[in-house]
Amino acid sequence: MSLSIGIHDLSFATGEFVLPHTALAAYNGTEIGKYHVGIGQESMSVPAADEDIVTLAATAAAPIVARHGSERIRTVVFATESSIDQAKSAGVYVHSLLGLPSATRVVELKQACYGATAALQFAIGLVQRDPAQQVLVIASDVSKYELDSPGEATQGAAAVAMLVGMDPALVRIEDPSGLFTADVMDFWRPNYLSTALVDGQESIGAYLQAVEGTWKDYSEQGGRALEEFAAFCYHQPFTKMAYKAHRHLLNYCGYDTDSDAIAGAIGQTTAYNTVIGNSYTASVYLGLAALLDQADDLTGKPIGFLSYGSGSVAEFFAGTVVAGYRERLRTEANREAIARRKPVDYAAYRELHQRSFPTDGGDHATERQTTGPFRLAGISGHKRQYETR
Ligand code: HMG
Repeated sequence: MSLSIGIHDLSFATGEFVLPHTALAAYNGTEIGKYHVGIGQESMSVPAADEDIVTLAATAAAPIVARHGSERIRTVVFATESSIDQAKSAGVYVHSLLGLPSATRVVELKQACYGATAALQFAIGLVQRDPAQQVLVIASDVSKYELDSPGEATQGAAAVAMLVGMDPALVRIEDPSGLFTADVMDFWRPNYLSTALVDGQESIGAYLQAVEGTWKDYSEQGGRALEEFAAFCYHQPFTKMAYKAHRHLLNYCGYDTDSDAIAGAIGQTTAYNTVIGNSYTASVYLGLAALLDQADDLTGKPIGFLSYGSGSVAEFFAGTVVAGYRERLRTEANREAIARRKPVDYAAYRELHQRSFPTDGGDHATERQTTGPFRLAGISGHKRQYETR
C-alpha cells in the first residue's frame, strides 16, 4: 500500500508595500482594463528596502515551526529564481533566523517558477524513505522586470512555506506526475542582470505547449481523467494565464470551453495572485491557499496542479484534499498578510525598484521600513546581515 504523503501545513508571506495597477496605469497611460481584465491583475506586492527572499521566507515559515516544532524537520529545500548568492543557499539564513536544529540538510533549488514543485516532489521522496521525517519546503521570490517594459505589470513578491510529511492534514499528493521539458528561451535572467528578460508572447506559447506536454504524459502514466478534478491550480504569472491554460487544456482534451466551466475550475485559485502579482515559484501554491480558503468543502476531492517554469520545465500532478483540512487552514492570517500591506505611490515604488547594494564591500545599512518579524539590516564585508525585529 502506498503511503499517504503530502502538504501538512501551508503558510505564506508577502511584501510590506503594495502598488495598485491604477497607479501604474496613471503613470504609463495604459487603459486600466488591460490590467484589470486583459491580464487579470489588480495590484502587486513590493518588498521594503529591508526585505528580500530570506525575510519573506522566514516570515512564511515561522508560523509552521511555531505550530509543529522543528524536531522532525531534517531537510529544508529553498526554491527560488531570485537568488541572493551564487554559492550559499538562502535557506541557511532562514535556518538560522528560525533557530532550526543543526542536524538539518539545507539546499537551494532553481528552475524558474517550477522550482517549488521539484522541491515538493523531492520532499515526498525523502519522506517515503523515512516516514518519521518532515521536510520544510519554501518557495520565495521577488519578480522584477525592467521598468517601463511590458513585464512590469506582472511583477510581485511572496513566499510560501509548506511542511511535507506523512498523513498530511491538508492535501495528499498522488502519483503519477506528467512531466515536460523543452529548451526554449522564453524568459531568463543572466547572472549579471537583476531583472528578467522575456519574450512575452513566446512565453505564453511555451506555457501552453507545456500544458499539452504534461497532460499527455500524465495520461500516458495512467493519471486521472480530466472530469474527476474539482479545481485546477495553475502557475499564475498573471491570473488571466490560468484561464488561457485551462481553456487550452480543455480544447486539447476535446471538451467545450464554456467560460462558466472554466471560471468554476479556476476562479477561486486566483484571489491572492491577482493582488500579489507574480511570485514565481510560490505562485501555484498561493493558488492552492486561495482555493482552500474560499471553496466549499473539498474533502476527498482531487485538485489538478500545473506547475510551469520558463526555460522550460513543467509538471502536472494531482492532490486530494484531506478530511478535517478546514480546521488547519490559516485563512485569517493569509488575508491579513495581504491586507496589512501599505500602498505606495508610483514614485516610491520606482525608487525601491532601482535600489541595489553598493558592491564595494563596505558597511551599508538599510532603512527601517518593514514591520514584519525579520529584516535585512544591511550588508557588510559583502555579507548580508539579517535580524529579528
Ligand atoms: P502586453 O504586450 O503588455 O499586452 O504583454 P497584450 O497586448 O498582449 O495584452 C494583454 C491582454 O490584455 C490581451 O488579452 C489584450 O487583448 C488585453 P489576450 O489577447 O491575451 O486575451 N487588453 C485589454 N483587455 C481589456 N481592456 C483593455 C485591453 N487592452 C488590452 N483596454 C504580457 C502582456 C503578459 C506578455 C507581458 O506583461 C509580459 O511579457 N509579461 C511577462 C511574461 C509572462 O508573464 N509570461 C507568462 C507565461 S511564462 C511564465 O508563466 C513563467 C514566468 O512566471 C517566469 C518563470 O517561470 O520564472 C513568467
